[in-house]
Amino acid sequence: MKLNQRSIIAIAVTAAPVAMAVALVLAGYSQTNGAWWTASVQLAVLGGITIMIYGVNVQALPVHSGKQWRSLPLVATQVGAGIAGAWLVALGYGWREEPLVRIGHVLAFAGAVLFLANLMLLFSGPGARPPRIAWHERTQQQKVDRLAIPFTMLSGLMVVVGTALAVLLDFWQPSSGRWDLVWAHVMLLGFFFPMASGTSYHMLARWSGRDFRSLRLIGLHLIAFLIGMPAMTIALAIDADMVFRIGAIAMAVSMVAWAVNILPVAWPLAAAARGGIALAMGFMVIGIGFGVMFALDPAAGARLRSTHVVSNLFGFAGLLISGFGYRYVPQLAGVPHICWPRLELPQLGLMTVGSGVGMLFMGLRMYGHLEPEAVIWPCLVGGIGMLLFAVNAAATFGYRAETLRDNSVS
Ligand code: HEM
Repeated sequence: MKLNQRSIIAIAVTAAPVAMAVALVLAGYSQTNGAWWTASVQLAVLGGITIMIYGVNVQALPVHSGKQWRSLPLVATQVGAGIAGAWLVALGYGWREEPLVRIGHVLAFAGAVLFLANLMLLFSGPGARPPRIAWHERTQQQKVDRLAIPFTMLSGLMVVVGTALAVLLDFWQPSSGRWDLVWAHVMLLGFFFPMASGTSYHMLARWSGRDFRSLRLIGLHLIAFLIGMPAMTIALAIDADMVFRIGAIAMAVSMVAWAVNILPVAWPLAAAARGGIALAMGFMVIGIGFGVMFALDPAAGARLRSTHVVSNLFGFAGLLISGFGYRYVPQLAGVPHICWPRLELPQLGLMTVGSGVGMLFMGLRMYGHLEPEAVIWPCLVGGIGMLLFAVNAAATFGYRAETLRDNSVS
């Protein structure tokens, strides 16, 4: 395969759902083999969510800035380091091989640093700056775009902070604080959530033709996020329960405000994109509901952590990737639609059933109502769902290449 911008995106948007699929199956397997739990979480975060964000940005940033990547090999190295790092970390945790975990974390960190470096090179490159427009002269979407900028900027910084923290924690074991949770929430609430927020504010109204209704609610989303994210992560690091409660509530407000903002705008999209995004929001509300419950009653956290994770990491993030993907992957591949539209609804169904029942089974198992072996089955169903998305995304890129080849021959 010739390495160009399109092939880098194709590799990223295929590798990411494959990682999510394997991670979901590992989450089920970890119920009988505990070492694979951390492997599952790290693979979903570093190999699934992070790589999907890299892939989307490879196309979105040049398009929105009107500038070009300074060095495509450097962009390819960023994505390659990210993918290799994620799988090494997962295998390292599963096989209990510390050197693999360390090498993997260093590679993931290198990928994040390159992400930021490539971004800075791109923005400092030649190209016209967009003209400055007074606030009152801007269209609704231009105002929304302005409010979305802090989300994406913060997200770009937090992926470096999160991956650096993982490297640090490989060599330093703090005597207090819950640092595995600090890492998870820096990556998920500090990197993934604001990137998903910023991207949805930039894209959704352009796709659906329906404006965002309330700038104030977007402002509330931003302010609650700016309070909740640092409060939660600092509280987890210093074991400050009251600060954690305040942060958890602020974060829940921020996430619900986001859902209320985007759902009406996403509604006119085609069924698969709308369905994926709506289901993702449903899982997100359940997942953060558990999170807030843990903040108020820490004993519940110890038992229902895996339920919270399946709901947020696979139900929310997995279905969001699928929903956005059905609208975005064809655009990234430069074709009118996904290769096999008939697979869209079964895929969403499998992911929804897999994540929903997986969540339920994890909870029942933790309260002793179910054998640990049973949890693998719904996770397998969800994993097959996520794999179907990966196959469809890869075929969508391949299908364009085929079409182009046929046209050039005829
Ligand atoms: C209001 C928002 C949230 C709150 C208050 C919250 C709170 C918590 C708490 C208290 C735990 C630890 C439970 C325990 O073992 O005692 C936890 C674990 C975890 N949460 Fe959250 N959470 C929130 C949002 C999210 C989101 C949106 C995601 C993913 C997209 C997420 C992913 C995780 C993961 C992966 C773990 C487990 C990490 C591991 O086992 O290594 N959380 N969360």
